[in-house]
Amino acid sequence: MVMRTQALQQQAKTDPEGFWGQAAEAISWERPWQRVLDDRQAPLYRWFEGATLNTCYNAVDRHVAQGRGEQIAIHYDSPVTGTAYGISYAELQSKVARLAGTLQAQGLTVGDRVVIYMPMVPETVFAMLACARIGAVHSVVFGGFAAAELATRIDDAKPKWVMSASCGVEPGRVVAYKPLLDEALNQAKHEVQGCLILQRPQCEAELTLGRDLDWYQAQQGVEPASCVAVAATDPLYILYTSGTTGTPKGVVRDNGGHAVALAWSMKAIYDIEPGDCFWAASDVGWVVGHSYIVYAPLLVGASTVLYEGKPVGTPDPGAFWRVIEQYKVKSFFTAPTAMRAIKREDPDTTYLRSYDIGCLKALYLAGERCDPDTLNWSSEQLGVAVIDHWWQTETGWAICANLMGIEPVEIKPGSPALAVPGYQVEVLDEVGEPVAPGSSGAIAIKLPLPPGTLPTLWQNDARYHAGYLDRYPGYYLTGDAGYQDEDGYLYIMSRIDDIINVAGHRLSTGRFEEVLAQHPAVAEVAVIGVADKLKGQVPLGMVVLKSGVSLAEETLYQQLIALVRAEIGPVAAFKLVSVVSKLPKTRSGKILRGTMRKMADCQEYVVPATIEDPETLDLIRAALNRMGYGHAKIEERID
Ligand code: COA
Ligand code: AMP
Repeated sequence: MVMRTQALQQQAKTDPEGFWGQAAEAISWERPWQRVLDDRQAPLYRWFEGATLNTCYNAVDRHVAQGRGEQIAIHYDSPVTGTAYGISYAELQSKVARLAGTLQAQGLTVGDRVVIYMPMVPETVFAMLACARIGAVHSVVFGGFAAAELATRIDDAKPKWVMSASCGVEPGRVVAYKPLLDEALNQAKHEVQGCLILQRPQCEAELTLGRDLDWYQAQQGVEPASCVAVAATDPLYILYTSGTTGTPKGVVRDNGGHAVALAWSMKAIYDIEPGDCFWAASDVGWVVGHSYIVYAPLLVGASTVLYEGKPVGTPDPGAFWRVIEQYKVKSFFTAPTAMRAIKREDPDTTYLRSYDIGCLKALYLAGERCDPDTLNWSSEQLGVAVIDHWWQTETGWAICANLMGIEPVEIKPGSPALAVPGYQVEVLDEVGEPVAPGSSGAIAIKLPLPPGTLPTLWQNDARYHAGYLDRYPGYYLTGDAGYQDEDGYLYIMSRIDDIINVAGHRLSTGRFEEVLAQHPAVAEVAVIGVADKLKGQVPLGMVVLKSGVSLAEETLYQQLIALVRAEIGPVAAFKLVSVVSKLPKTRSGKILRGTMRKMADCQEYVVPATIEDPETLDLIRAALNRMGYGHAKIEERID
C-alpha cells in the first residue's frame, strides 16, 4: 500500500502552491513571498518569488538562537590525517561569520562568484556557508579534477575570488592543490582578484605575492559579517556537471526553493529530525555533498559527518561502521560502489561485526544504478532497510525514493521506488507519448519541477532549453532511460546520451574524446563506458592512428592514459585503451558507440542497417577481447 505517498504526490501535483507553501513554513524568511510558484516565464519557473531569506542564517544562526548552540553541527573525521573533532553550531556560527567578514573586507558582495577548490576539511564547509552568508555565489570544484577542468569552470563562473587549500590527502599520497590552482589560473582567460589559501601541514604551499592571502592571517582583526538577506530566487551556488559535450554545465541552485526542498526531504525521505546524526559519505565537490553533507542536515538542525577517507583502506573496510558507531549515525548515505568495495574486501563482514551499529536505521544509496546483488547483500549484512534513490546534480535532491519518514513502502531491488511528491515522472516514447508500464523509454519529468531543482544553467538559458526542455515540450528531459512497473516503481537502466558513471562520478565520454584527440598520433577516437564490477562503469577508448605513426603501442597507451589524467584528473580512472585501424560508423559518419558498448558488455545488439563497413565490428571485438571485454557478461566475468 502506498496510500500516503500517492496522496502527497496528488496534492503536490494539483496544488503545488499549497504543498510547498506549507513546507516553506520550516524555513525562516526575512520577507514572505508574493507567489509560491512563479510561472510567468514558463517553461522557466521560479519558486517563492518576492521572498527574501539567508540560507546561512537558516543553516546556522537560527539553531544557535533556538538553543542548539552547544550541539555538534559537524563531526569532522579524517582517517587520512589522523584527525577528528566536533564543531558545535555556536562555533560554526563564529567561524563562518568571521570568514564571511573576510570576504566582505575583500570587496565581495551579493551575486559575486567564488570558486572553492578544496578537500574534505571543515574550512570547505565554512567557505560555502560564508559565501551564502554574504549572498556571494559559490562554485565548488571537486579536488580530483585537473587544472584544465578547474580553468574551464573559472572561465564560466568568472569568480572574483578563489578559496583553496595547499593540498588534499588521498590514501598514500598528498595531492598538492596549489600547483593545480596556479596552472588553472594561468590557463583561464578570466582573471581573479585574489585567492584565499588554507595551509595544511601535510604540504604547505608557497603563496603568490599580490594574489594569495593566507586563510587565517587574512581573518585577523576582521569584523564578523552578519547574514545578508537575498531574494529566494537569487543563486546560492553553481555546480558544474558533465554534459554530452566536453564543456561542463553550470547547474544553478537558488536560495529559497533549495532551503524548502532540502529541509522537507530530511524528514520525508531520510527520517531525520533536529538533533539526529546524518552522514553522507560523498565529497563536497559533488551534489550529494552540497545537499546532504552541508546544507540539508544543517538546515534542519541535525549533526552531519564530514569524512575525509575512503570506504576501504583508511585503514580497513570497517571504517564506515566505526564512524556510524562513533557518531551514532541514524541515516547513512553512500554510493553503491562504496558498498561493493567493502563487500570485496570484507565479504564475511568480519569488520562490520566488531562494531555496534544499532543506531543505524537505514542505508541510502544513489549516484549510480544499484545492482540488486549489492542492495541485497547490504541489507542482509547491515540488517536495516537499504533504500535506492535516484537523482541528479540538476535536481539537487531525490526524484524517486522511498519516503522513509512518511511511509516506508516495499523495497524492490533494482528500483529507486516511487516518484517523490513534486516530481511527475513519465516514461516517454520517441514522439513524447507515455509508454505502457513495463515498456522502456526516455524518462522525463512534467514541468514545473519542484523547488530546489535547477531554475536554469548559469547564464545560459539557451543551453538549458536545448539540453533539457526542447526535446519534449512541457517536460524536463532527465537523460536517463528506463521503465515503470504496474505499481509505479521506476527502473533506471541507462543514459540516452554519452554520459558515463564511474564509481558514482558522472563523466562525459565527449570530454575523454576531446582530450585523447589532442594527442599528435591520434586521428580518430571513440570512448565508451563499459561495465565494471567495482566502479559500475569505467571508460574504454579506441583510437585510430594517423598514418605514418611509428610509436610503440605500449608507449602510446601510457601517454594517452597520462594525458587524460593530466587534463581531466585522476577521478577519470582511464586505464583501458586500444588502437584499431578503423572505427565502426554509419554511412553518415556517426560512430556506433552504442553498438560498441553492447559488444563490450556482451549484450545483444542489432548491426545497424546503415553501417558503413560491417567488418569494423570484428576489429572492435578483437580489440575488446584483448582488453578482457566482450567475452562474458558482467555477472559472469571473473575478476
Ligand atoms: N582529490 C584528488 N584525487 C582524488 C580525489 C580528490 N578529492 N578523489 C579521488 N581522487 C583520485 C584517487 O586518489 C584515485 O587516484 P589513483 O588513480 O592515483 O589511485 C582516482 O582519483 C580515482 O579515485 P576513486 O574513484 O576514489 O577510486 P579508487 O580506486 O581510489 O577508490 C573506491 C575506489 C570504491 C574506494 C572509491 O571509488 C569510492 O569510495 N567510491 C565511492 C563513490 C562516491 O562516494 N561517490 C560520490 C557520489 S555519491
Ligand atoms: P549526478 O548528476 O552526478 O548525480 O549523476 C546523475 C546520474 O547518475 C543520473 O542521471 C543517473 O544516470 C545516475 N544515477 C544516480 N542515482 C541513480 C540511481 N539510484 N539509479 C540509477 N542511476 C542513478
